[in-house]
Amino acid sequence: MQFLSRRQLIPAIELLLVAVTIIDLFYIIYSHSSAKVPVPDGHNRLYYRQFPIEDKDSTFYLDAAAFHREYHIPQARVNYLSEFINLDKCPVISEDVAAIGVAAPCTDKNALLDSLSSGGRIGLNAPYHSKGCEMWWYESEELCNVWAKYGKVMFVGDDVLEDIYGGMMVLVREDPLYGAVRQWSFSSNKDMDCACESAFTDHDRCESALVRSMKDITDYDRKLVKCKPKVGVKLQMHYLPRYPVDPVEFNRFVMAATEDSKFDRRPIAIIYGHGHGSLFDIGATASWISTLRDMVHNVIPYGNPIYELFVTPGATGPQVSGGKTLPLGLKASQVFEMAMRSWGREVKMDVLGTWNATVQTSFSADGLHGGIRVNLLKAMMITNWLDLVNPESD
Ligand SMILES: *[C@@H]1O[C@H](CO)[C@@H](O)[C@H](O)[C@H]1NC(C)=O
Repeated sequence: MQFLSRRQLIPAIELLLVAVTIIDLFYIIYSHSSAKVPVPDGHNRLYYRQFPIEDKDSTFYLDAAAFHREYHIPQARVNYLSEFINLDKCPVISEDVAAIGVAAPCTDKNALLDSLSSGGRIGLNAPYHSKGCEMWWYESEELCNVWAKYGKVMFVGDDVLEDIYGGMMVLVREDPLYGAVRQWSFSSNKDMDCACESAFTDHDRCESALVRSMKDITDYDRKLVKCKPKVGVKLQMHYLPRYPVDPVEFNRFVMAATEDSKFDRRPIAIIYGHGHGSLFDIGATASWISTLRDMVHNVIPYGNPIYELFVTPGATGPQVSGGKTLPLGLKASQVFEMAMRSWGREVKMDVLGTWNATVQTSFSADGLHGGIRVNLLKAMMITNWLDLVNPESD
């Protein structure tokens, strides 16, 4: 039996194809018009992510997925720590630290401080993102070139600053396992416990093993520092936690600050930092910095430019509670930072806030020490400031 003759069949197929195309077209137009969410000006990433991507069986789904990918905030693209040594014994990857390569690098010191102080993490221990322009991730050689713009880079403060200094040493030695410590002076197996994370979290036990100047390392073995700076790099940690300032500690610091400054006309950078030992006392912290600042400006007699930065202690973790008398909780740490930043604007002191960068981390339970990952981040943030605040290079 035959419904259609051979001559009728071809036009019928053609008709069918036209019909299918028209239906298809309608479908595409319909699905696109229903997907047309009004797009606001500028980037509103969250808005884009409201797309109904559960609508799985249409061309629209594919479009939305492409859209989704494009606007999804990307993760750190490359593991920029992959060249580090001893990663098998102390595994740190860049995704634990910060997403780099997402936005344009900062070109201005104030924009940098704003962006870094306001950035954060999307989820607990997720990579940190700056908010706005981005910091640069310097490799060892570049780090030393930035540091070498200064006659001295002096870290002044308590154990929170010691941790950041440790982060600097890990970066320049490209060794998360031993970077922060003088492992050559380890004498027992117990000392071995000061490697990797413990150097950053177990201060009571490991403090005596910490590196406090680049000279500590180069005196032992020049090759442990991965960069070859053109000019000498002096990066020093000065433990000055008390307020009122302890005269003995201060004198030691002054000796170091003035040493060679007659011959070395490069600027001096001073990084002030206090942990939660300051009890979030805004007045006392401001006085501590102001006192040191005045003394420093008085004792550096040869007119070397001085650049100064205060780094806030960041957010307290879940194990720090109010205690009997003092509110040391999360909110207090936030209020403290905001107050110190506005104080900084008043007295023209650069302030780097780390509350936003640390609040969504649990690398250390008390939030006091942050662990190695947070301190690599803080160290890199400070190096970016050092690079931008003093644009001159040798
Ligand atoms: C955290 O970031 C926000 C903006 O993202 C900013 O307004 C705030 O001042 C920052 N610092 C603190 C301590 O909240």
